[in-house]
Amino acid sequence: MATHVIPSNAPLKDIDEWDDFLTGRYQEGKSEDEFRQYDEKATPGVAEFYRLNHQYQTFDYVIAKEKEYFGLNKGEKSIWVLQTSEAIRKDGHPRWFVLTGFIHDLGKVLCLWGEPQWGVVGDTFPVGCAYSKDIVFPEYFKANPDINNPLYQTKYGIYEPNCGLGKLHMSFGHDGYIGEVMKNYMPEESLYMLRYHSFYSAHRHGAYRHLMSEHDIEMLEWVNKFNVYDLYSKGHTKPNLAELKPYYDDLFAEFFPAKIAW
Ligand SMILES: [Fe+2]
Ligand SMILES: [Fe+2]
Repeated sequence: MATHVIPSNAPLKDIDEWDDFLTGRYQEGKSEDEFRQYDEKATPGVAEFYRLNHQYQTFDYVIAKEKEYFGLNKGEKSIWVLQTSEAIRKDGHPRWFVLTGFIHDLGKVLCLWGEPQWGVVGDTFPVGCAYSKDIVFPEYFKANPDINNPLYQTKYGIYEPNCGLGKLHMSFGHDGYIGEVMKNYMPEESLYMLRYHSFYSAHRHGAYRHLMSEHDIEMLEWVNKFNVYDLYSKGHTKPNLAELKPYYDDLFAEFFPAKIAW
């Protein structure tokens, strides 16, 4: 791990650096030991990014950001980006699944509104209860003030056993935000994919089952199905935008009004 890093709110050269780190981390069935070895080789930028993320994503921070963004009062925007969706479409998945691929990372627009990298990307985790050992770089939580709140450090914290994922306050970022933006437009399976696609400790390592309902566990299958495309569909052939536009215009019109509240 890096010993000399310049403190900065933007340790990643580009927020895609985090995506690349994950792609390598989850490449093929790694053992617990191999995860640790992989993490030790993280670039100083990635390690510093996680240090900031784990230090500053406190319960109070999350509640404040939910208040700021979940009211969807940042204005209205049309949808125009193209991402993971083409790979999903090629595999013959339903239209809502293709659309989910297209929109899943649009919450990164938070960067344009001045949110720091550690508050936009990174693996997500619930706040207000104990951190799972399956979260990447767990040692960095030592600097999070929530570590000194005894209630927040119990297994269930402020939550009830198996209360359901919907009751949890997740560390703030692009996932929870896009889930909120899309909650009136997309089916439930899609909302799980949107909300929890970076919740790696849960969907890849099986953590936090004690806070989930049986329904959540069923729905996590969809998150796993989606994750394959999220990790491995980047950087292949560049889609021809002009050619694809009619298909996507149609898809948007099927699910969305002309403008959406962000
Ligand atoms: Fe994402
Ligand atoms: Fe993504």
